[in-house]
Amino acid sequence: MRAPHTALLSVEHLTMRFGGVIAIDDLSFTAARGEITALIGPNGAGKTTVFNCVTGFYKPSAGRLALTPSGAAAPEDLLALTQSGRRFSETASGEIYLLERMADFEIAQRGRVARTFQNIRLFAGMTALENLIVAQHNALMAASGPGLWGLFGLPSHRARQKAAIETAKYWLEQIDLIGRADDPAGALPYGAQRRLEIARAMCARPALLCLDEPAAGLNPRESAELAALLRAIRDEHAASILLIEHDMSVVMEISDHIVVLDYGEKIADGAPSAIRKDPKVIKAYLGVDDEDEVDLAASGTRA
Ligand SMILES: Nc1ncnc2c1ncn2[C@@H]1O[C@H](COP(=O)(O)OP(=O)(O)O)[C@@H](O)[C@H]1O
Ligand SMILES: [Mg+2]
Repeated sequence: MRAPHTALLSVEHLTMRFGGVIAIDDLSFTAARGEITALIGPNGAGKTTVFNCVTGFYKPSAGRLALTPSGAAAPEDLLALTQSGRRFSETASGEIYLLERMADFEIAQRGRVARTFQNIRLFAGMTALENLIVAQHNALMAASGPGLWGLFGLPSHRARQKAAIETAKYWLEQIDLIGRADDPAGALPYGAQRRLEIARAMCARPALLCLDEPAAGLNPRESAELAALLRAIRDEHAASILLIEHDMSVVMEISDHIVVLDYGEKIADGAPSAIRKDPKVIKAYLGVDDEDEVDLAASGTRA
């Protein structure tokens, strides 16, 4: 058993409307530091919408999304920030970010929230190595400020470039693709492209990694490799993970905590052992009554 963890992300009363459609209705949950938190639910339940609110792609209609990368926020600090109208603050207990007030690039760079998409978005014509170097370019630019340093090849720039290449190679080793570093990303097998996307997100050293259906389209062997990679990220890289996933065998195997959505509302929240037996969850997924004993993981259900 690992030690109990504090909240990294607190989602409080999140509501998202699109015209008359309520995609998310008063949703609250926490993602704990050092854990894999899964967000599951049938198609259209609102999972991707939650991600889009967390990553700043959508501005929530209502609610607070507090990210505290270095420690639990003292309630009075959180209240003071909320009332101040500011987007983030440095307090004695660490930084607090109110994601609902921040732009997507700020959430990525300051809040260190990284994401992958439901569809692969690699640079298909670039090599695997180049994809991972480009991923660090924003971080390089932010660290060195604007200017023409790149053109002049200043030593600090060269040192950073070298570090970026080392980080890229490190991640290629972690995902078992170091032997294909120079192959175009688009030529890699689908499962390898999925792992490369996750490696690309990890190159930015995120505090929170958001993954939207990383196992979609993978065969069982590739799904097992993915599960091992996500566990390693949690255990060896101090990154917390928010995971949307339909593949119940992956979810049940690696999640520390599962939040279940149905029609934009939370219907269950707990450990995998409790979720897999929860009658409301089984009903939402399979449309069966609670007296039917159904094991979600064993059923291999994909909503
Ligand atoms: N940009 C949008 N405009 C209008 N409706 C949207 C938009 N994004 C999502 N929705 C609606 O919100 C609901 C939840 O969608 P989504 O978050 O994609 O679900 P999931 O990822 O769980 O399949 C759906 O009814 C969807 O049609
Ligand atoms: Mg989705």
